[in-house]
Amino acid sequence: MFTIEHLDALEILDSRGRPTVQAVCRLRGHPPVTASVPSGASTGAAEAHELRDQDPGRYRGLGCRRAVENIRSVIQPAVVGRAFSEQAALDERLIELDGTPDKSRLGANAVLAVSIAFARAAARADGIPLYAHFARMAGIEVRTLPRLTINLFSGGKHAGAQAAIQDVLLVPVAAPTIDDGLAMTFAVYQTAAELIARRYGMRLLRADEGGLAPDFPGSEAMLADAVEAMRLAGLQPGREIALAVDVASSHFFRGGCYHLGTTPLDSGAMVAELEGWARRYPIVSLEDGLAEDDWSHWPRLTERLGSRLLVLGDDFLCTNPDRLRRAIAARAATALLLKVNQIGTLTEALAACQLGRQAGWQVTISARSGETEDDWLADLAVGWAGDQIKIGSITQSERLAKYNRLLAIERETGLPVVDWPKAGP
Ligand code: PGA
Ligand code: ZN
Repeated sequence: MFTIEHLDALEILDSRGRPTVQAVCRLRGHPPVTASVPSGASTGAAEAHELRDQDPGRYRGLGCRRAVENIRSVIQPAVVGRAFSEQAALDERLIELDGTPDKSRLGANAVLAVSIAFARAAARADGIPLYAHFARMAGIEVRTLPRLTINLFSGGKHAGAQAAIQDVLLVPVAAPTIDDGLAMTFAVYQTAAELIARRYGMRLLRADEGGLAPDFPGSEAMLADAVEAMRLAGLQPGREIALAVDVASSHFFRGGCYHLGTTPLDSGAMVAELEGWARRYPIVSLEDGLAEDDWSHWPRLTERLGSRLLVLGDDFLCTNPDRLRRAIAARAATALLLKVNQIGTLTEALAACQLGRQAGWQVTISARSGETEDDWLADLAVGWAGDQIKIGSITQSERLAKYNRLLAIERETGLPVVDWPKAGP
């Protein structure tokens, strides 16, 4: 039993300088711990509700004082002095206190901060690392570390929409360790920075997650430049290092068409375009290739591409067990992008993760574009046996906190990185 003796919260700032929520939790007989929650910019419509103050005079309405106050005046009196046997018991209480389907009363940011702070406090109380605690929660014996997927180029909502697609990521498929994967990525990142400085004649500009963000002439140029940078760095595209793409296509889907380039594409033409990319470039994972509500075409995308790459749903699934069930039944994807703040508690996110696994799907555990220096995501990705982890680029401390934590876990456990590619469903 874990008895919560103290619970508090603080409004802090994330990597975009926007407010977010940090919770402080102390269990009886143990020191206090904190947990901070991230925040998205390229959000899915079905995400749990992030509570913002809406006061235009303060942080343009983005303040989190109400969410903080909800922790202090609603959650705190309901949980302090109470004993919880496990995470699910606390999360059930939080869900009940909120009472809405999308956490809009207390705010998913408030609820998740408490959910994660409790997990960290419980791990501390049991004297085990946080990843081991997450593994125990999931009933998993951890045997591997997740494969890295690291932002190289950015467009879309993370880079002022200078190009339509959002992220082109590097996947160091041949790297046997996290350590080697980071070094391989560094080589390509630096080469790419030099390449785009020459090609686009511009100084180094980085997007929200640290990706390079020049004025690409089009989305496909992002892929071609990435492959060129791999070669210039002396690495074999597809064999040693591959690409993952977050198309984030909901954000350029208007009036039934995808506004990817100059000619609007209907859903069938968009699938054909993505198939072309998959033929021409070493893409191993394709995220949100279609828009979040383009349900009727996702199965076709999966049928066409599911055998050669991961068809990954982010905005499409929103870590939401209901959406996931529907997508599994329709064979609409082959992999889940898991972001715990899309749903609001660890327990619900774990349910989504397990649903995906039962269907034979892979799981990519992901950060948000607005992050903090908290590193719990690395422990979560290891503990829940994520096949991939998506943190952002290898710049900026809010990203590096997680990469550095992965390095520490690798050193501590000596576990190998999961093989890639793994057979799909
Ligand atoms: P975010 O998006 O800005 O909502 O965090 C990241 C992503 O689309 O993967
Ligand atoms: Zn995404």
